[in-house]
This record gives sequence, structure tokens and C-alpha cells, in this order.
Amino acid sequence: MESATELDANDPLAGFRDRFVHNSSEPELIYLDGNSLGRQPRAVADVLTRIVDHQWSDRLIRGWNEGWLDIAEGVGDLIGELLGANPGEVILAENTSVCLYKVAVAALREQRSRQKVVTDDENFPSDIQILRSACRSAGSGQTVQIVHCSEALDPTSVLVDAIDESTAVVSLSHVTYRSGWRWDLEAVNRAAQDVGALVVWDFSHSVAAIPIDVAAQGVDVAVGCTYKYLNGGPGAPAFIYVSSRRDNLSNPIRGWFGSDKPFDFDHQSPSAGSIQRFLTGTPNVVSAALIQPGVDLLLEAGIEQVYEKSVRLSERFIALCDTQLSEFGFEIRTSRDPLLRGSHVAVFHPDAQAVGLALLNEQSVITDFRPPDLLRFGFAPLYIRFADVDATVSRIIDVVAGGGIDRWRDENPLVP
Ligand SMILES: Cc1ncc(COP(=O)(O)O)c(C=O)c1O
Repeated sequence: MESATELDANDPLAGFRDRFVHNSSEPELIYLDGNSLGRQPRAVADVLTRIVDHQWSDRLIRGWNEGWLDIAEGVGDLIGELLGANPGEVILAENTSVCLYKVAVAALREQRSRQKVVTDDENFPSDIQILRSACRSAGSGQTVQIVHCSEALDPTSVLVDAIDESTAVVSLSHVTYRSGWRWDLEAVNRAAQDVGALVVWDFSHSVAAIPIDVAAQGVDVAVGCTYKYLNGGPGAPAFIYVSSRRDNLSNPIRGWFGSDKPFDFDHQSPSAGSIQRFLTGTPNVVSAALIQPGVDLLLEAGIEQVYEKSVRLSERFIALCDTQLSEFGFEIRTSRDPLLRGSHVAVFHPDAQAVGLALLNEQSVITDFRPPDLLRFGFAPLYIRFADVDATVSRIIDVVAGGGIDRWRDENPLVP
């Protein structure tokens, strides 16, 4: 195995690490949870200062004509560049759950004669709850069918078999939050489009982690969050992508910002024809502005380079787990095929929660735990080094050998 020091020295992305904030009082910290909340880009502080010291403070309401009115679409377009979307196909709004609700109801209302919504058992629980709410709101008696794919040898064929002429909508997380399984975008889109079903993707764990080309891969509708690999900050707004081919889809929560001229204060104002129709109320201007620095960094680095490093980091981690951790009961639960995973690796251990807490509290390694027995290790290539991978594995060994599991077995924090 090549030395981590050499790999880091030759890494074309190495310089990006310093463009994120690292707390100098925790120099040993290894942060492997960018799949949950990305690190803070340094440039965020300047953006915030500009808003607080100049825009909100001095410009006040004039800010709306000086950039605020267009911010949801402007930052949306930048995210669209990462996704291969055309300008005007992506917009920021609320959070992933609400965005999913909006596009799911829109899709279901276009497919009233079809009764089934297909999703899988690895989908994010909020997504499944939202799909059920969307069915109730669409009002045509549609129901959600959860296809059990997670234990299947060939999940794609199990899923595709469930998609038929009665399917209104297929909705999946492109990369699943637990195991990190990656669906084949094109295969699922093709299967759905062949029978006239619409696919609504959740890109939360794939945007800025793996290359996506919505135009080439036939994506009609997607949503995703911006606080993971996009580094947009806690609670940052989510995004909605609707292909311009799908301009028949309309926002079920009509509000003043969904029209071209909200400040006409017209009771009847028509819905905007553009992606702006998916807005409802006032955009989160401050949070939207804070997303841009992270997106800028990713565009500068280039998603292909980011992905290439992500694969190398996770391949190294998987290899070290196999050789050094399997004897302690750790097992890789993410696909070993890089084309079938995102940028996090899930590892099983019977005491996964205690291992995670010991890593956090005794070893300065932040991962996260997903019940009942998985630890997730997220590799965000703009700030994770190859040396971090090696150090993580040796700190895990220290936890196991040093009795860390017993010290943390009885803890149960609110956020795991
Ligand atoms: C795949 C996926 N979808 C949706 C969500 C929920 O996002 P939000 O809280 O922004 O609605 C998450 C949160 O982590 C997620 O991982």
C-alpha cells in the first residue's frame, strides 16, 4: 500500500483543506461526518460579514433589488452546474422534506390514474413519511409500496420488477443514508419512463459527492440538501431540480414568491412559468448566501477530481478495515464496487454506538452511528487526507484494545 504521506503530498486537491475552518484548539480532530454536516468554508465568514455589516444593516429593504430577490435561483443555478442542469432548472427552497413534498404532490397530480408510489426500504424515513403525506394530499387514493431491496443480491432488478403500468411515481435516495448504496440513475429512470412513471430523486447523499449529469442521465425531478457535501451550513435550504421538459408540474403550495411579480400583491397572480413556481414564501436569504462559498469550492475543484479522490479514500479505508479491523468484529456494509456507493462507507460492529462514542470522546474522531449497529465514515475529499484514513483505523484499534467500548456502552446521546 502506498504511503499516505506520499499520497497527500501528490494530491491535487490538498490545497482545498485550508479553505475550510479547522479549530486550532483541536489539531488532532478527524472529521468524517461531512456526509451529515459539511465543514465550514472559510469564505462563509466574509459572506456573513457582508450581509450583517452592509446589506441588512445599511441597505435594509433595498437589498431585495440588490440581489436578494434572485438569490434562490442564482445559487440554485450554481448547484445546477454541479448536476449538469440548465440554468433555470434548480432553485433553493425550505428543506429537503418540504421540497420532496412539493414535487411529489406535483408528480402525483399529473399521474392521477395510477395508484402506486414505489420506494425502497433503505430510503430515508422522512422521505417515506413525506411520500405518504403527498399521497394523502394528492387525493387520488395513491399509496406507497416499500420494496424490500436491502437484502437482495441484485437490488436493481428487485426494484425494477415492482415498477409497472400502475406506478405513478418512483422515489428513491440516489445514495442511501445508511449503507451508502447507490442506485443506477439511468437504469431506474429507463424502467420508469418505459411504463410512463415519473421518478423523483433525493440527491442529498450524492450531490457534490459523485458526478451527476441530469440531462444525460434522463432525470426529470430531484431534490437534495445542501448541508452535507455542499457545505452549506446547518439548516441550509434544500434544492429542487425540475427538468424544463416537465413544465407541467406545478407547486401544490402556491404562495406569493411562486409568481413572477410577488410585489404586485395580486390575489390572482399566475404561477411563474420558470422554476420559481416552486417557491412559496420569502426565501431564506442569509442561509442561501452562505451556501455559495461551498458550491464555489466544489466548482473550482471539479466534481470529477473530487470523486476520483473520494474513491481512493474509501478504497483505502475499506482495505485497511479488511486487514486490520475484521478480527475485532468490524464488517464493511457498503458495496465494494465504487460505482455502487456514494462517498461514505458503513461499517457494522455489534457495539457500533459505543465505538463511535469512544472515537468521539477519547480519540478525536467524529463519525456517526445509525441504529442498530452501523457506523458511517464520510469521506469529503476537499478536507480529508489519506493520513486521516490511516489514523482513523489505528484509533479504532486503540478504542478496542484500550477498553473504550466498555466505557461508552451505556451512553445514549440524543443525536447519535
Ligand atoms: C437522504 C435524506 N433525505 C432527506 C433528509 C432530510 O432532510 P431535511 O431535514 O432537510 O428535510 C436527509 C437528512 O439527513 C437525508 O439524509
